[in-house]
Amino acid sequence: GEPGWTTSADVIVVGSGIAGLTTALRLRQRVDRVLLVTKTVLNEGSTQWAQGGIAAALDPGDSPEEHLHDTLVAGCGVCDVPAVTALVHEGPERVRELVALGAEFDLDDEGELKLTREGGHHKDRIAHAGGDATGKEISRALIAALHRVQDDPGIEVIEHALVVDLLQDNESRVCGVTLHVIGEGQMDGVGAAMSRAVVLATGGLGQVYSATTNPSVATGDGMAAALRAGAVMADVEFVQFHPTVLWLGPGSSGQQPLISEAVRGEGAFLVDRDGVRFMQGRHPLADLAPRDVVSRAIVDRMQQTGEDHVFLDARHLGQAFLEERFPSIVARCRELGFDPATELLPVAPAQHYASGGVRTDLVGRSSLDGLYACGEVSCTGVHGANRLASNSLLEGLVFAHRIADDISERMAVGQLPQADQADRSAQVGATDDGDPHDGSALLDSSARVQVQAAMTAGAGAVRSAQSLASTAAALRDLALAATSTESGPASWETTNLLHIGQVLTLAATLREETRGGHVRSDHPDQVDPRWRGHTLIVRGADGS
Ligand code: SIN
Repeated sequence: GEPGWTTSADVIVVGSGIAGLTTALRLRQRVDRVLLVTKTVLNEGSTQWAQGGIAAALDPGDSPEEHLHDTLVAGCGVCDVPAVTALVHEGPERVRELVALGAEFDLDDEGELKLTREGGHHKDRIAHAGGDATGKEISRALIAALHRVQDDPGIEVIEHALVVDLLQDNESRVCGVTLHVIGEGQMDGVGAAMSRAVVLATGGLGQVYSATTNPSVATGDGMAAALRAGAVMADVEFVQFHPTVLWLGPGSSGQQPLISEAVRGEGAFLVDRDGVRFMQGRHPLADLAPRDVVSRAIVDRMQQTGEDHVFLDARHLGQAFLEERFPSIVARCRELGFDPATELLPVAPAQHYASGGVRTDLVGRSSLDGLYACGEVSCTGVHGANRLASNSLLEGLVFAHRIADDISERMAVGQLPQADQADRSAQVGATDDGDPHDGSALLDSSARVQVQAAMTAGAGAVRSAQSLASTAAALRDLALAATSTESGPASWETTNLLHIGQVLTLAATLREETRGGHVRSDHPDQVDPRWRGHTLIVRGADGS
């Protein structure tokens, strides 16, 4: 049927983490009308949960070249050097701009940014706020900046708006989105928003697994919509598992409590049940090795001891220091019955970050004209096979600026025209609000746990051809059984998880080696030089 309503803007920004908010704020200085849509409320995404901080060569004793080097080493040969070069050189200025905008980072006695260290970094270059609540403070500052311009007609915000699919004109150019809005008066239900460009800043896909550090909204919506529209996806197999997630028991599912790498940065270390510091001798940086190395070492040690967790020892840091430096983590642990000042914390790896995503160039353009991607949803090439700690907030900032500048420059020279009226009505008329997925049926929301179970069993921290084949078969069965009549946001989210699970499983099957976040037990030899490139996947017109 017809969408219930239509609106329009110059640019639609989808998502309200650091990537979406920064893009929208910068765009509004240059284009007439920006529409920011977000699935729940402005501060509900992953940015809010970021603990450790934001990495940039801000110390006089550090340099962008050293940050570049550490990023490339962590990325295991798959990073794109020009993208990393942009990240590390523009990063320091972008962080200072964030401070100028009002984000209150932790300062030392001289009023300089306090900088700490995390895995894979050879210098102290992680700026943080509220001790371990960096994302919360960045989110607060960006939303406050948005509210300061709220009366400005140049920017409109719609909350509780799930983007269902991308609209394309006859030349495949992206010219808007269909979205499902809950409770916005005139704009209730399924509608269409037309624009000259769409920026996806929808974050990650953690909910495709049973246990993740990501909030429940991280269902890969932007990635799935881009995939269905025919955008090229890259490196989706490189999923990062964070080494130190508080272990709450075998059946624990959904969002799990993260114990920031910064706790190890301040001196905590991993031990097994016998008290052995197993990271020593495994890597020159020991407990501060890159994240993939630490997670793999934990998985190995758990296999050797037959346990489902190891321990983090932070006791020697002392109660006063822990409470001051990591107030949120200490409070959360105590709520759950653990005291890091007096006890070992049980920890195990859990899904944390999608290093791959919608393939973009240096200014955030995807393979589809008019479609941009920013932040975790994108694959700019800065993370390679394994993202370096605290480079994700930075990527959102740096590429948001590049995207906003590219869009406004193109508009100024007459590129990115509005889709013409004929194309619009053809597209909008073709959108069926009960079945927004190109003829593929929607999955019932009750299947969410089945998708998660299949992905966790065969496409998680360790994979093999055999485990991936059973995951693929289970997902295919779920797809064939998809007959939902619900057609609400919950079943669209579940369908997105299925589509993302399928593409991730395919990418992981294709890459027959172990590299970074991609661990194949049937190809245990690390890094096969034949596989140094990106894994690129595009969906066929027939849905294959
Ligand atoms: C952490 O605080 O350990 C997370 C940092 C990150 O994901 O980069």
